[in-house]
Amino acid sequence: MSQEVSILPHPRRIVPAEGEFRITPETSVSWTGVGAATVAELLVEYLRPATGFALPVVPHDSSVGSTIHLVCLGTPDPDEAGFYPENYSIAVQPDSATLSADSPAGLVRAVQTLRQLLPEEIFAAQPVSRAWNLPCLTIEDAPRWRWRGLHLDVARHFFSVEEVCRFIDLMALHRFSVCHLHLVDDQGWRVEIEKYPLLTQVAAQRRQTLVGLDPDRPRKYDGQEYGGFFRKDDIRKIVNFAEKRKITVLPEIELPGHSQAVLSAYPEFGCTGAKIEPRCHWGISQHVYNVEESTIAFLCDVLDEVMDLFPSRFIHIGGDEAPKHQWSESERVQQRMVELGIKNEDQLQSWFIGRISDHLRSRGRRLIGWDEILEGGLASGAAVMSWRGEEGGLAAARLGHDVVMANSKSLYFDHYQRQPIEAEPLAIGGLSTTEDVYSYNMIPKGLEKEFEGYIMGGQGQLWTEYISDFSYLEFMAYPRACALAECLWLPEEEKNLPRFLAALKRHRKRFDVLGVNAHRSP
Ligand code: ACM
Repeated sequence: MSQEVSILPHPRRIVPAEGEFRITPETSVSWTGVGAATVAELLVEYLRPATGFALPVVPHDSSVGSTIHLVCLGTPDPDEAGFYPENYSIAVQPDSATLSADSPAGLVRAVQTLRQLLPEEIFAAQPVSRAWNLPCLTIEDAPRWRWRGLHLDVARHFFSVEEVCRFIDLMALHRFSVCHLHLVDDQGWRVEIEKYPLLTQVAAQRRQTLVGLDPDRPRKYDGQEYGGFFRKDDIRKIVNFAEKRKITVLPEIELPGHSQAVLSAYPEFGCTGAKIEPRCHWGISQHVYNVEESTIAFLCDVLDEVMDLFPSRFIHIGGDEAPKHQWSESERVQQRMVELGIKNEDQLQSWFIGRISDHLRSRGRRLIGWDEILEGGLASGAAVMSWRGEEGGLAAARLGHDVVMANSKSLYFDHYQRQPIEAEPLAIGGLSTTEDVYSYNMIPKGLEKEFEGYIMGGQGQLWTEYISDFSYLEFMAYPRACALAECLWLPEEEKNLPRFLAALKRHRKRFDVLGVNAHRSP
């Protein structure tokens, strides 16, 4: 096979052929089928900067001469998790290139593969004078896992609409399917909610930020006020940008813990009534929501506005690291437990999350949360992100809950990525190399075959306590996200580390053209 063809993630089947198809200013991009025209527009948008060509998008019936033809074969319904089929094929012949898929999502994946069939200069932002040849071949492709995610914490450090869109566009290039936005934490609230303006007027700003590692004492702070949030129009831009690339944006609104910033704005929803401020260092705050009906109503109102902005089938409600101390200490919470007939704080958390799950279901959505939501029992239909090793994933799948593997051992991209860690820029700790990521198996060890169908896929996490600028974010994300993308695309038995590492070498040239600050090893 031609040395030139190197696609990441590697497609399932490639059959090389003789010859090339040249894209010229006379080439048209034609389409057939529902949704194909929008994908054709996306392809033209991708090709324009480097080629300088403004290729016309036309219905296939009226195309003449050299054409890239996009065919959408069906109008399938999404599955119960909101995903569409993503299988696609590409046939490049000397006089035409045809991309076919069962859904627009599959066609978008085909477009990303087609971009990687072109010389790496195709990723340039300015016109490059050269021939734009596609090698003749056929590709048949489909992902192993439907949930192929990256998580981005915009709460600890905030990133602009442009940065988030660039993040999503790079995800799209690697055929990811879900971008999880962690919008809320103790250190800041990052999305406009009209009904509760103090969330952005108060909870979106912190007085200062920790310098250095959190365990270091005494703590040092930078003395700089820090904040930011997305207005509704910003979110619409991000969601539309992602939708065009068939990436679901999953919003996360943390509850009942990680809520110190909210409670600084609305202390009436907390357990102590204390006047607090958004947290200026990391770690786990003791501040959690109280369990009054008014608090549930507040959260349902917030989630209603969130659901209006994010079409994602799943809504992430956090659920991790919620200390139960304030619940044990509060007379009012204890009284409420008696009223509700609830015996312990784990059950209370389960009740709390159950109420939120009911609300989401009443709006046709599904709840997903970190694996602590299993404690005390979990509502049917809810899904689990397994981050504390694989135990949560195993338990959830065996109970019939859908699972996303987000194992902090291998899939936390805020961890160091190379030894010796002393030579690396400051990170939160841990070590997860690109090879570690590549070798990760989404099926938890010991899971019985009958439950494997509950695993939806996996996700890489970018927590940003120690990632304050976008260039460093890309450094931490890549190339580990390349390894994850392939790990999620291919069945375990089709993964091939030496081939991946060779493809990565070529892929780095694309990163250089795109200006991606990827880590230089491996
Ligand atoms: C987490 O890392 N607390 C989900």
